[in-house]
Amino acid sequence: MSHLIYPTTNLASIEQLTIVRGEGVYVFDADGNRYLEGLAGLWCTSLGYGNEELIDAISSQLHTIAYTHTFGGKTHPMAIELADKLASMLPINDARLFFGNSGSDANDTHIKLMRYYFDVIGHPEKRKIITRERAYHGVTVAAGALTSLPACLTHFDAPVDALGILRTDAPHYYRGRKPGETEPEFVERITGNLERLIIDEGPESIAAFLAEPITGASGVIVPPAGYYEKVQAILAKYNILFIADEVITGFGRTGNDFGCTTMGIKPDMMTLAKQLSSAYFPISAAAIPGFMHDAMIAPSANVGVFGHGYTYSGHPVACAAALKTLEIYERDNIFAKAASVGLYMQEKLREFESHALVGEVRGKGLIAAIEIVADKKTAKAFDDGSVGAFAQKACQDNGLMVRTLAGASIALCPPLIITESQIDEMIDALGRALDATLDYALSKDSRLKAS
Ligand SMILES: Cc1ncc(COP(=O)(O)O)c(C=O)c1O
Repeated sequence: MSHLIYPTTNLASIEQLTIVRGEGVYVFDADGNRYLEGLAGLWCTSLGYGNEELIDAISSQLHTIAYTHTFGGKTHPMAIELADKLASMLPINDARLFFGNSGSDANDTHIKLMRYYFDVIGHPEKRKIITRERAYHGVTVAAGALTSLPACLTHFDAPVDALGILRTDAPHYYRGRKPGETEPEFVERITGNLERLIIDEGPESIAAFLAEPITGASGVIVPPAGYYEKVQAILAKYNILFIADEVITGFGRTGNDFGCTTMGIKPDMMTLAKQLSSAYFPISAAAIPGFMHDAMIAPSANVGVFGHGYTYSGHPVACAAALKTLEIYERDNIFAKAASVGLYMQEKLREFESHALVGEVRGKGLIAAIEIVADKKTAKAFDDGSVGAFAQKACQDNGLMVRTLAGASIALCPPLIITESQIDEMIDALGRALDATLDYALSKDSRLKAS
């Protein structure tokens, strides 16, 4: 056993597969087996593997200057250029960007910026933040407390109360509906719960509502029609900011530039990472409106410094990778192409709706999930995680990398450069894996009703 501590892994079950190389939408293991990367790594390798332009941009920046920083009045052209480019793309008024290294640290930054802002404008009581059940916002101490997945909270003693974190319903109709409840009634009920939570806690104490426009790690939840419209009306009524965590949904993933566009959200703040650099170099960004930044200028001068910053905030090589990624997205029309291939993928995946194991197929653009269930008619979930784990392994055995999340939702999120014929390949592998999983589930659980 190596000396490595593995992230997000069953520590009693490590080192099952060694990936050594990537090419286009494929990765290869140490034995030379090829896999279609159906999850773009961890929802991030949008431009696939071995992109020579990205490699050149990174290499050229390393030759120019491998590292410089933006602390204490210093700057460099790459950080300025990237911030200005992002500001021109984001649906935020006069956006200002704070760079970090991960989605988690960008969400931590949001908590700090938000608190700083409300403190300096004379509302230090406005500090609570509403997150949702089944949310994933990262794993640092603060972001991990915002995350609602049990494995990310159990044993960690996360400072949920200290940070004023409140949780409201996950907008998943398939799992969250009451018997006989229609989709509009579900939306009415859960947004009613949100408003009640705000009133009970005191609207003046709540700073922000944080949400992934479409969730990823909780099994790809696409909220029902009308949900965000109602949420935004409630937030506006009580003067609460909307922070859109676009770490997965940003940059063409959902069929548009941002998940906010797809879902009709007008965000106040945004979290960006992953596809910002196509994962060729770690970088994240916390985007806030100009008025928040402006309010912090004089107070920071009084203190002497705005006391938040990472050694690698605006790392020049990361900025070079991101700038080249954004250039390729624009020049090659990647978002529009991904939207068209995404429609094809969604159509093909919906053919699995009749499969005996499949309870729900959901998604938008090039992100989707297939939830497998023990009973299609009642949506009964499997009692343990072994069927979901089997499905993930069966996909891998058929040359397809996916992750089974939230028990039994097979998540799909291929690189944005995937072609229709590669989608066909993915669908074939998935079909074979689902059939193998059905055999396994039938042998394991005689209660499974094949229909
Ligand atoms: C929506 C969302 N926010 C935040 C994060 C955390 O990002 P990182 O793993 O880069 O810290 C993730 C990671 O998957 C994510 O999906």
